[in-house]
Amino acid sequence: MTRTLSLLTPSGRLTLGNLLGALRPMAARQDDALYGLSDLHAMTVPHDPAELRARSLEMATLLLAAGLDRATLFRQSAVPAHRELAYLLECVATTGELGRMIQYKEKGRSSSRTSLLTYPVLMAADILLYRPTQVPVGDDQRQHVELTRDLALRFNRTYGEVFTVPEAVTPAAGARVMDLAEPTRKMSKSADAAGSIFLLDPPDVVRRKVARAVTDSETGPAAVRADRAAKPGVTNLLEILLACGGSADGLTTYGALKKAVTDAVVAELGPLQRRYAELAADAAHVSEVYDAGAVRARALAAPVLAAAETAVGL
Ligand code: ADP
Ligand code: NA
Repeated sequence: MTRTLSLLTPSGRLTLGNLLGALRPMAARQDDALYGLSDLHAMTVPHDPAELRARSLEMATLLLAAGLDRATLFRQSAVPAHRELAYLLECVATTGELGRMIQYKEKGRSSSRTSLLTYPVLMAADILLYRPTQVPVGDDQRQHVELTRDLALRFNRTYGEVFTVPEAVTPAAGARVMDLAEPTRKMSKSADAAGSIFLLDPPDVVRRKVARAVTDSETGPAAVRADRAAKPGVTNLLEILLACGGSADGLTTYGALKKAVTDAVVAELGPLQRRYAELAADAAHVSEVYDAGAVRARALAAPVLAAAETAVGL
């Protein structure tokens, strides 16, 4: 089976990096695809309910605005099977293996939310409910798929063959957009990141952020060239320019490069922002799309959950 599943966490605001690295490839692959918001995963750290609601709605609307209108779009929280299966998987997971997960090792402490420890199990449920055979993941998510495989194999061994054991596959190398202010770091969707271009940034904000982007002190007509190790800032700007349909031909100064990047990004985001504005004015339509998606997702998840419940003796 080639079913694709991808969930984005509404823990911040979608960036140009998300657009080029995730939404574009997702838009290109919508048949038998389940895409959605992992809103439950936004709750592993202290959060503000109004903020979560606003970010979820914004992200839901942005996914549609980015052209993901043929895939099944849904909110994780609207499919209770995710939480229900997560509990059954917690009953085969050990606190030891969860404590070794990188996020928890780096950020966990005794005052952390328990969900910071257990969210990898919820992520395993997110995946196993839809029986994908392959899960495209970046390096930072590989450990999660490993855990998902371990839990599925252990469950199957202990209670009978219920789960399809997925395999992590490396997605076709997508664009990787770096932070404009700190170009050795990935552009991130945390709302306070000064070097991130958010998809809803108006043109003057884009211009200001690009103008402030870190370059280097090289001068002369050869300075505008890609060299990821020696010139990460300039390389990032060149890659953004090309990914947004611009051209670097004839650019000899960083000023000219930044102007070209600004124009290309503004042109890339313009149609998306106009579509967003239309959709935002029709919130009922957006919720209908997500409600219909949740109905489809529930129907796919129900037999898997039922089989798991029966297997454990419920
Ligand atoms: P989440 O918490 O939902 O995983 P991320 O923003 O880290 O949030 O990732 C969501 C998706 O966007 C992933 O597919 C990831 O690879 C992609 N992505 C995130 N940041 C970038 C970036 N700076 N450049 C390219 N792709 C990115
Ligand atoms: Na991530």
